[in-house]
Amino acid sequence: MTKTSKELQALLAKMTINEKVGQLVQVTPSFFEEVEGTGIVTGLMGDYQIRGEDIYEVGSVLGSYDKAEIASIQQAYLKKNRLGIPLLFMADVIHGMKTIFPIPLALAASFNPEVAEAMASWSAIECQEAGIHLTFSPMVDLTKDPRWGRVMEGNGEDSYLDAQMARAFVRGYQGEKGELATNYAKIGSCVKHFIGYGLVEAGREYNHVSVSKLDLYQNHLPAFQAAIDEGTTLVMTAFNTIDGLPAVGNKPLIDALLRQEMGFKGPVIADWGAINQLMTHGVAEDQAAAAKLAITSGCDIDMMTNSYYDNLATLVDSQQVAIEAIDQAVLRVLQLKADLGLFEDPYRGSQTAQGQTLGTTIQTAARQIGHEAMVLLKNEQQVLPLKPTQRLALIGPKATSQDVLGAWCGYGEQKDAISFAEALTAQYEEVTVVPVNAVHELTEIELIQAKQAARDCDVVILALGEEGEETGEAASKTDICLPAAQRKLIQEIQAVNPTIVTVLFNGRPLDLTDVAERSTAILEAWFLGTQAGNSIVDILSGTVNPSGKLPMTFPMTVGQVPIYYNHMNTGNPLTPERQQEKYSSKYLDAPNTPRYPFGYGLSYSEFILTSEITITKEEPVRVDITCQLKNNGAYAGAEVIQVYLRDRVGQVTRPVKELKRFEKVFLEAGEQTTVQFELTAEDFTYYNASLEKVRDTGWYDLFIGTDSSAEKIMDFYL
Ligand code: BGC
Repeated sequence: MTKTSKELQALLAKMTINEKVGQLVQVTPSFFEEVEGTGIVTGLMGDYQIRGEDIYEVGSVLGSYDKAEIASIQQAYLKKNRLGIPLLFMADVIHGMKTIFPIPLALAASFNPEVAEAMASWSAIECQEAGIHLTFSPMVDLTKDPRWGRVMEGNGEDSYLDAQMARAFVRGYQGEKGELATNYAKIGSCVKHFIGYGLVEAGREYNHVSVSKLDLYQNHLPAFQAAIDEGTTLVMTAFNTIDGLPAVGNKPLIDALLRQEMGFKGPVIADWGAINQLMTHGVAEDQAAAAKLAITSGCDIDMMTNSYYDNLATLVDSQQVAIEAIDQAVLRVLQLKADLGLFEDPYRGSQTAQGQTLGTTIQTAARQIGHEAMVLLKNEQQVLPLKPTQRLALIGPKATSQDVLGAWCGYGEQKDAISFAEALTAQYEEVTVVPVNAVHELTEIELIQAKQAARDCDVVILALGEEGEETGEAASKTDICLPAAQRKLIQEIQAVNPTIVTVLFNGRPLDLTDVAERSTAILEAWFLGTQAGNSIVDILSGTVNPSGKLPMTFPMTVGQVPIYYNHMNTGNPLTPERQQEKYSSKYLDAPNTPRYPFGYGLSYSEFILTSEITITKEEPVRVDITCQLKNNGAYAGAEVIQVYLRDRVGQVTRPVKELKRFEKVFLEAGEQTTVQFELTAEDFTYYNASLEKVRDTGWYDLFIGTDSSAEKIMDFYL
């Protein structure tokens, strides 16, 4: 039986002020003398120190992935912690712990929330074996700017897709509500970063954010709300400001919006070092002021600064902070520990759990999850799938590379990853592999060898892309083209053999200038994780049919960024009739359209989609959509039916299109099925200028198809 709230209150009553403050402090494992600095740290520690025995009062540890380390810290800690309150271990397990799965952006490309749920569920099992109690995932920062390196951690540009994925991640990590306390194969989740971080200006990391309340409510809150409704255990604040206040010191944001309006009951944690940053942002003069601002705003846990540790007790003493504020924060932390069952078993079963990490079942799951994440962007002359007898040349910086995990890869190691070459040579007899040593360079020798191999084969496969560390946190770019060396490679190869299949390894939408037009086929493989090579070859060989769809628009050029499908119409839109009109919203040197739109992705099969619509105008209003989907091709495979809506006239401007429903449907070759969608009154609501959720009577356009450029199939008055 887990502790009741009365028992937790009684425990709180026994705690000294220092013990209370300790619960609100989070440190890395290296703070414990039992540990020889094996913890993984992700930021500056500066001169932060916990004095003497005080370390046995801190509440949580972040960044250890090591079973022996976690167990030894917990054991030593519990011997000395006066009240026997266990430590809570958190870590960044973003797309896998030891077995690495596709990056979250790639999981979103599956357009299949079950895939994200499965990934989270497998990650939780590996976490349990290591002793990790809670992961700092899912990251649901909505973003439209591929210059920002952290796009790889999120679900892309659409708030509906983001919310579906957020819910699936939380369910996968945590299971059913209440399951955490007894099912140790589940872990706590932390939705982050609250809020608006994906809007950093010009895509530059940690930059200023400027966002309207309307945009926040309409587009950024839904994924957080979905995670909260699903029971996420923790919320992490963002580094940026909202309305002039950094999120961690923003009472209207944490207290009024997150807790009161959105109903989040659990603890709120600062991002790494963020409480100290209140000083660098320029809203706190010294550390005491920073601590006061953060705690009174509702931030419970201080990740990796000494703001709370050095100042909270004094602030309470001098009556600048009410003890009630501390008590509430501590109770939320204790409740989380109780919800995780830590008072019953501080190790959460990790001592007996073993044998699944990196095991074959998880590898098979990772390989299958990888299948769903890849997006076929181009396939001319039906060059794909490859034929069994073709002579192949695999060339490029990602040919033999094991840098296929992507950033934020937990405790995963490149040595465990299956490279492209390893998987391809295992399946095809005639393969010449020409590795290119670096992503940004091409030597003369490499080029000569590459051209020779290209001349002597039927199909050239180019493995191109970014380094894993060019994506993730602190990895912003102004140029999102492939490096010049790789563009030169494809140009030179095309001159000797124009049959080129390009496979891309990257963590953001790219500007594919010089690559798209020179490739016969393009497979977007992202960073797929440990099973990358196997998953890719399964698709190239046709063993599996590609079914992924882009969760973010691929621009024609970086100058179009931010470019996204659900934009506003503007007062001077560029319509087909107004192409020659000077005063329309357009560029002089580039089109308005992207290279590949949101929701786009090809299959080896052709799918035929027809729909019938029934509108119910009486209250409760509804729109029933019945789709017939037929796989008209020779390959079994999946297609994603996408339903978009446009509200033509609103109380505020409304987007030209909004995704309302999607469903991935698997069909055997020749098979046909019926898929039904129901839009209810809620689907026609939006926020007006007073932030009220409203629904208008008026004209709507309905679009149904297999990407966001779907044709309008009807309009109706509702
Ligand atoms: C990141 C967070 C992460 C934290 C802990 C920060 O730098 O912004 O997303 O969870 O570090 O590693």
